[in-house]
Amino acid sequence: MAQTRRVKVFDTTLRDGEQTPGVGLTKEKKLEIAHALQDLGLDAIEAGFPINSDIELETVRQIAKELDITVCGLARALPGDIDACIKADVDMIHVFISTSPQHLKYQMNKTEDEVYEMAVSSVQYVVDHGITCMFSPMDATRTGLDYLLRVCKGVEAAGASIINIPDTVGVMYPEKMRKLVADVRKEIKIDLDVHCHNDFGMAVANTLAAVEGGCDQVQVTVNGLGERAGNADLEQVVMALKMLYGIETGIKTEKIYPMSKLVERLTGIRIMPNFPIVGDNAFAHESGIHVHAVLKRAETFEPIKPEMVGAKRKLVLGKHIGIHGIDAKLKEMGIAVDGEQLREITNKVKDLGGKGKKVVEEDLVAIAQDVAGMVPQKERRVQMVNFKLASELGKKPCATVVLKVDGKVKEATEEGVGPVDAALKAIKSAIGLEDILLEEYRLDAITGGSDALAEVTITVRKGGDSTLARGVHEDVVMASVTAFLNGLNRILK
Ligand code: KIV
Ligand code: ZN
Repeated sequence: MAQTRRVKVFDTTLRDGEQTPGVGLTKEKKLEIAHALQDLGLDAIEAGFPINSDIELETVRQIAKELDITVCGLARALPGDIDACIKADVDMIHVFISTSPQHLKYQMNKTEDEVYEMAVSSVQYVVDHGITCMFSPMDATRTGLDYLLRVCKGVEAAGASIINIPDTVGVMYPEKMRKLVADVRKEIKIDLDVHCHNDFGMAVANTLAAVEGGCDQVQVTVNGLGERAGNADLEQVVMALKMLYGIETGIKTEKIYPMSKLVERLTGIRIMPNFPIVGDNAFAHESGIHVHAVLKRAETFEPIKPEMVGAKRKLVLGKHIGIHGIDAKLKEMGIAVDGEQLREITNKVKDLGGKGKKVVEEDLVAIAQDVAGMVPQKERRVQMVNFKLASELGKKPCATVVLKVDGKVKEATEEGVGPVDAALKAIKSAIGLEDILLEEYRLDAITGGSDALAEVTITVRKGGDSTLARGVHEDVVMASVTAFLNGLNRILK
């Protein structure tokens, strides 16, 4: 029986990913991500660039100490950089030096022979210290093949264990990438790795093409983070290898969605809703035809089962929803209506969506109540007992909330950057659940004037589950508090 091909996955979220403009991770955050990456089933991670600073060196050292998988540090082809990696006690050192004519002339001001010598002697230096070496000819995809092969053969002879082919400025397309890797593969015996940037949106496709060309390992980042337009996205590469190529990676795919959310939260970089695999809309359906079919048989409009990546299917209320979607949504909420009422409720939801309104579950309950009379509502698990807000010029606002959670009284006081922040933080503290996240917050004024009705729409997340909730009040803080409590009651149901 033919064996399933296995490709290794090397994650560089903590190095190239951290080079995303605007991202800087503390030691604690890097450690949290590193452990999650290990739990995801990765073969190796690049933990950072130790020469960058003392704190970076210390962080990489701590990650290498705590993790059982291969932890790699990045180094230029310079003894000082390599020494910093040695001090960080990493399992692997990733040495890089530019090889393209553009980089040699304008960035390094060095000849091909000088760069060759630096590459070979650096690899030799790492190997002499008994440490595994991965070598990258930076900007490999703009380097002439003859010189690229000369450098690759030199570092192979010097004892490198892996050669990475970086598409540093993301200028490849799949056919070209496949050929380049195949050309290198013919001449090089050690493992080949690929590192693609996404400047033309080709990073994932080029990474897959490199695998077709004979790569043994792929470099990726969570949420495609990285320099400029980012790197090849871990979620997409792993799932495409598995589902489209039948290639295994050892990644525990059900942990992919929580991993993506963790990195979103700790880096502060939100992904687009239509991002593949892990975006909010990746498993969301609104159109009547799709919802009807998916409810009958998921594979009609879902190429991947959401549970496979730790996500959940979402039926979205809006102008495209059909009767089957509303029926499923009402059943999910424990609301029973007859056929005629269901039709009327569906029309009203579609009307509301058609007016450009974001339709949330409270709207559905209100419409159902209107059409079918009182509908049984589940007991609210979280109820507000009291709320106090102190705000003084020059001081941070401070909110105190008293809640009843499952009948038990809970109280918390928190400060915030503003009164809304303080109030929502206090509610979160009183609930005491770490994994409750307030993902989106939108404030609209329904009427004009300083006594305008404020409408707050928020998304509350708990693990793989999220819900949209709304609060309306003349006071922005109370509208926010109501929206948050509505969201909590739904997500904790
Ligand atoms: O994009 C690149 O070339 C890199 C190297 C350090 C491998 O990130
Ligand atoms: Zn890179």
